[in-house]
Amino acid sequence: MQTSNGRSINLRIWSVFDMIKRFLIVALMIFTAVEVSADELDESLIQSSINPVVLQQGKVLFEQVCASCHNKDLSGASGFNLKDGEWVHGKRPTQILNNVKNGFMSAGMPGFADVFSEVQLRSIVSYILSKREGWDDIQYKLYQLDNENDQVVTEDKLIKSGPLVNNLADFAIPEVQHYFIEFEGDFYAPKENDAQLWLQWGAPHEMEVFINGKQVLKGGTPWFPTWRLKRGKQRLKLTYRSGNTKPGQRNLTVIATNLDMTIKLFAVSSRAKTIMDDKKFEIKATSDTVVIRKRIHSLPPLSISVGTPAKLNYAFNSKTCSINGLWQGDLLNIGPNISGRGEDPSLPLGEWIFKSPQGIEHTTAENQVCSYKGYQLLNSEPVFNYAIGDTNFSVTAMVKHNNKISFLFNSNTQKKNRHFTFANF
Ligand code: HEC
Repeated sequence: MQTSNGRSINLRIWSVFDMIKRFLIVALMIFTAVEVSADELDESLIQSSINPVVLQQGKVLFEQVCASCHNKDLSGASGFNLKDGEWVHGKRPTQILNNVKNGFMSAGMPGFADVFSEVQLRSIVSYILSKREGWDDIQYKLYQLDNENDQVVTEDKLIKSGPLVNNLADFAIPEVQHYFIEFEGDFYAPKENDAQLWLQWGAPHEMEVFINGKQVLKGGTPWFPTWRLKRGKQRLKLTYRSGNTKPGQRNLTVIATNLDMTIKLFAVSSRAKTIMDDKKFEIKATSDTVVIRKRIHSLPPLSISVGTPAKLNYAFNSKTCSINGLWQGDLLNIGPNISGRGEDPSLPLGEWIFKSPQGIEHTTAENQVCSYKGYQLLNSEPVFNYAIGDTNFSVTAMVKHNNKISFLFNSNTQKKNRHFTFANF
């Protein structure tokens, strides 16, 4: 009995010391764990930004809750752009995660810590990381040259250098007349599509491009030169020598575009950013149906687009007299025409359900040519009129929900309704 009592007292005394010791060890562990895990968490978020399963989950959640303020393509609306290199509240993956958890209540963004699980929140952050585009950690170096013919760039001519916080090549930095400037940093180009750098009014300018240390050959035309990018992440360097260009023209517009130059993807220089922000001109059908005649990217010319408040939009092509596109989301960004030539098409702001060469039309004998007669509004909905031979036709659409649209085809000889219902929306 005694022995067992004694032992149990001993045990109790021991356990108090033990508890204090354990407490200290655990406290120390937590302390170091936090230190280590911020880095580890950064790394694991970056790792999962290439994991298709995580990205799919992140995409779904992002589109459900974040897209209303940050846009489905992350380009920003009432909330900031989340795919460019400009981070106001911190760019580290863990900072982004904390920002999503805490929100910015005074600026209008709620916190999501209680809305989603940790796993869900991390999937959203990984999705955001996977969408990065443009420069990261960009640095500049400015060298003063002796005169306009001076081509010798040596370290003793370096007069200024440093990081550029908004991650854009700022060609307006130099305050000297003759100079050579260099921008270098990590660069994210699209992963799934080929892209290039495009320089507006480039003919007089000595700009050179280096990717992963190797010079890239100049393509395009003398006035609009281009340089092919690699896909995904790369090391990019741009150099520029002022030479005998006019000082007022040295603030270069450099943009990443797709290869056929129909889509301006994102700004690479700060001048380009200002221009592109001005040119973002989105047209959305909020309370009424909207009809726009503008060239649309990836649809044939002469397509007239119709946006409905239910966010189902279609295009009627006045050459083929067919419905040659249907997309869900907002209507169009008609602003990307930045080269000033009026040739760049508008971009649909949603996702295609179908597009040309697919289409819906009145079944007619082959090789019959239609002639378009214009449209009139009937209860604010457009009715497109056309004729094939002696027969007059019309087509209009009725949208009941955001997943059902009916095209009503009429002619003086027959009437046909075609309904389209979409699942999963
Ligand atoms: C109701 C609108 C709204 C919603 C919904 C919203 N945000 Fe925001 N978000 C904002 C605003 C506004 C800001 C800018 C805050 C400021 O001005 O400081 C912001 C800022 C951010 C930032 C900081 C960007 C930076 O530059 O540092 C991140 C990251 C972010 N949001 C992610 C998200 C994610 C992820 C979701 C969905 C889970 C989301 N937001 C949902 C409005 C919103």
